[in-house]
Amino acid sequence: MMRLDKTLAHMGFGSRKEVKELIKKSKVTVNDQVIKNGKIDVNPYEDDIMVNHIPVEYRKYIYIMLNKPAGYLSATEDFKDQTVIDLLEPDLQLFEPFPVGRLDKDTEGLLLLTNDGQLAHHMLSPKKGVKKTYYARVSGRVTEEDREAFEKGVTLDDGYVTKPAKLEILTRGTMSEIELTITEGKFHQVKRMFQAVGKEVIYLRRERMGELYLDESLPLGSYRELNKKELNDCLCLIPGEIRGDL
Ligand code: URA
Repeated sequence: MMRLDKTLAHMGFGSRKEVKELIKKSKVTVNDQVIKNGKIDVNPYEDDIMVNHIPVEYRKYIYIMLNKPAGYLSATEDFKDQTVIDLLEPDLQLFEPFPVGRLDKDTEGLLLLTNDGQLAHHMLSPKKGVKKTYYARVSGRVTEEDREAFEKGVTLDDGYVTKPAKLEILTRGTMSEIELTITEGKFHQVKRMFQAVGKEVIYLRRERMGELYLDESLPLGSYRELNKKELNDCLCLIPGEIRGDL
């Protein structure tokens, strides 16, 4: 149970004071009864709450798949650059989502935005080894030797040896197209892995994170909420997780 005024404030109907005003003006009903006291307890998942005759659909968590465009930071705020949160409509920003992991400013593709800290923790935990697949265009000819090197692990500029990664060469030429699947998320990892074999990533896009695949029908810069199957596949990462309050 939760206080009615708090529930409405949480759902973006204004500050507690503004919500109080709405209630005073008889704009709020609970199970078809006009409510004049914001302090009453409601069950936001079960009770039929309406504001101006429009049903309030309460939920605690949001899960958004974004096709990140280049030029945006994977952060919630920045004094200089635009962030991925700026791409969301204000109604969704109210939930205070944050990006699960980071894509570089110039990287495009799949980014999960949520306010579910537990899920973010499990998706990013090195112990879980969640697979991330990237499509890249790389300057130079990517070779079988590179594939084998990535399978064994390459040494990055700071001495770190990467875990086995799967490289698929899609096209080879003076510029190659590849898909690389890694199970870790070191800073600039894909770019630095190619640097380690003397090549340069010139375009990078994430296509997969765990069981979540970028929806190809999402144009760059647009987003949608996860569907039930996608959400369940993600939540499976949380051991023994039972969510009665989604
Ligand atoms: N690896 C990179 O180098 N950059 C990214 O944005 C993601 C993975």
